[in-house]
Amino acid sequence: MKTLFIVVFVALAGTCLAQQRGKDSACVYDNGQFPHEDYCDYFYDCIDGVATLQLCPNGLAFLGKGRGLLQSCDYPKRAGCPDGKRVMGQSPISTENCNWLWGRFPHKTSCTRYWECWNGTYTLRNCGFSLLYSTESESCDWPENVPGCQQHPTCKNIANGAVPIENNCKNFWQCIGAYPFLQECPAGLAFDPQFLSCRLATTVPGCEPPPTTEAPEEEERPASGNRRRTGAGLQRQNYQSLDTSSANQTPLQNNRVNDRPQFRTAPGK
Ligand SMILES: *[C@@H]1O[C@H](CO)[C@@H](O)[C@H](O)[C@H]1NC(C)=O
Repeated sequence: MKTLFIVVFVALAGTCLAQQRGKDSACVYDNGQFPHEDYCDYFYDCIDGVATLQLCPNGLAFLGKGRGLLQSCDYPKRAGCPDGKRVMGQSPISTENCNWLWGRFPHKTSCTRYWECWNGTYTLRNCGFSLLYSTESESCDWPENVPGCQQHPTCKNIANGAVPIENNCKNFWQCIGAYPFLQECPAGLAFDPQFLSCRLATTVPGCEPPPTTEAPEEEERPASGNRRRTGAGLQRQNYQSLDTSSANQTPLQNNRVNDRPQFRTAPGK
C-alpha cells in the first residue's frame, strides 16, 4: 500500500514536472521546432515537450522545421527577419566578403553582383541581365525596386540605357545594371543624344560629316551602300531597319532626311 502510494506520487510528480517544463518553454506542441521569442537565429527543438535551444548557422534565421536553406534556417529576409520584434542574436562571424558565415552580401562596387557565402567561403554571383542586387530583399530585383543601389555616377539616373558623352559623336555609354560600358557607333553613324541611339551622321546636329568626304562616296554607289549596310548590321534591330532603307537610297538620302522634321526637332527625352 505504502509502495503503491509512492509509485503513484512519483509518477504524478514526474508528469507534472514534464508538463510544467513543456508549458514554460516555447513548445507550442510537444514535438516540433518553434521560434525563439527574441532572436531570429535561435529556435527551440521540442521533444516530448522538452525544449532544447538551438542555433541557426551563423547569418541564417529560423524558418521552420525541415525548411529553408540549411538546418531549418534560411536567409534572414526570407525568414522574415527582422520583424520589428525579433532580431539576430548571434554575433556575426565575418570572413573576406562575408559579413556572416552564411548569407548573401552586396558587392562594394557593383550593383549587378553579390557575394554568396557558404560557411564563410564566398562565391561571386551575377544577377541576370537588367536586374540589380537588392540588399532589401537579399535577392536580384528590378532596378526600380533597388533605390539604395550604389550606382555608377554615369548611370545614376538610368540603370539600363544609353547615356551620351558630351561633344562625342562616336561614343556613348551603355548602362547595364547601373554600370556603364563604352560603345561606339558603326561607320557612317553618330550618337544622337535626342534619340539616345546611333543614327545617320548627316541627321545628327553637330556630327555631320564634312562634305568633301561625302561627295565622292555618293558617286560610288555600290561601295557606299556596302559600307552602310555593314554598319547597320552591327546596330540594334530598331535602328537597322531605318538605316537599311536609307542606305539603298543614297542619292536621295539628304533630301529624305530633311523631309522628315521629326529627326531634327523632336524634343529630347
Ligand atoms: C563549416 O565549417 C566548419 C569548419 O570551418 C565545419 O566544422 C562545419 O561543419 C561547417 N558547417 C557546415 C554546416 O558545413
